[in-house]
Amino acid sequence: MDDKGCECKQRFADPDNQEPLLGILERYAGEKGALIPLLQDTQEAYGYLDEKIMRALAKGAGYQLSQVYGVATFYTQFRLEPIGEHLIRVCHGTACHVAGAELISEEISNFLGVKDGQTTPDMKFTLESVMCVGACSLSPIMIVDEDTHGKLKPANVRKVLKKYRGGNGEKEE
Ligand code: FES
Repeated sequence: MDDKGCECKQRFADPDNQEPLLGILERYAGEKGALIPLLQDTQEAYGYLDEKIMRALAKGAGYQLSQVYGVATFYTQFRLEPIGEHLIRVCHGTACHVAGAELISEEISNFLGVKDGQTTPDMKFTLESVMCVGACSLSPIMIVDEDTHGKLKPANVRKVLKKYRGGNGEKEE
């Protein structure tokens, strides 16, 4: 089948597929103290740190499972639950905070019915707060997947998110 033009929504590897993990393990083979980058790359590949993937990572990289869990649960950057189809990150660094990031997050929460760190029940969106993403001149900033929406006004949040939602874009009450 020709995959050209495929609008595949699958951005992340299936945790049953260990191939991406094997590639990551190979990249860090022999590197001591690389657990954090290993976990970062693994999360990037799978979207979150699935239990069986963490087990395989521990085994493949020579760590105790408890060490892997310890790091994965200590740092807020790591997720242990799958994320939605679209990841919304709202910058809460100083410049964005001053420019009204709180109101942006509030508007997203009101629209989607989720709080920071949560995923909508339809698995469409996950909302996350992040620190400075390095584009302060565009504050306040919301990043949806790879798209940056800068100088965002709370009044425009719904319009932007509707583009990612499809259908009529309205949250079901
Ligand atoms: S504080 Fe938001 S981009 Fe720097």
